[in-house]
Amino acid sequence: MKQKIVVYPGSFDPPTNGHIDLIERASRIFDKVIILIMVNIQKSYTFTVEERVEMLNNIFKKRKFKNVSVDVYKGLLVDYLKKNKLNIVLRGLRAVSDFEYEFQMVLTNRKMFDRMETIYLMPDVRWTYLSSSLVKEIANFGGDISDFVPSEIVSTIRRKFKQ
Ligand code: PNS
Repeated sequence: MKQKIVVYPGSFDPPTNGHIDLIERASRIFDKVIILIMVNIQKSYTFTVEERVEMLNNIFKKRKFKNVSVDVYKGLLVDYLKKNKLNIVLRGLRAVSDFEYEFQMVLTNRKMFDRMETIYLMPDVRWTYLSSSLVKEIANFGGDISDFVPSEIVSTIRRKFKQ
């Protein structure tokens, strides 16, 4: 039977407990989850692509989820999907405020690739308010980020903001 593969695109700058919660949920639904680090041109990044790959690999190395992998693509999501013969995408919805952006993105992507289907999962209520930007702001001012990101990457983030 054909494997059901889902692509989870995002910035992951840095990954948070909200991202990980979503990935773990998806890994129980799909045969394979590809975390895809992409470029959002609205954002300027703190961590290099290599640092983000390393953080995600470190997180999943120690966990039981064997069907999760990390990839990078610096182009359009639809081109990545077509190139790899994939068509299912995962995105997270935290609050109503996420909806408008996601709605615009899914319809634009669909216009470019009509076989693309996006599924939305909601993270645990503990993470509905959480974002990578807030984590960076807390880390920047020396606050404690250990409740918000996986333990495997706390020191990497702290180090980055000490530089
Ligand atoms: O974590 P983010 O920043 O909300 O993720 C947004 C991301 C990276 C998924 C989005 O910006 C994206 O798909 N970038 C790749 C370029 C692309 O395909 N843009 C078309 C969007 S309609």
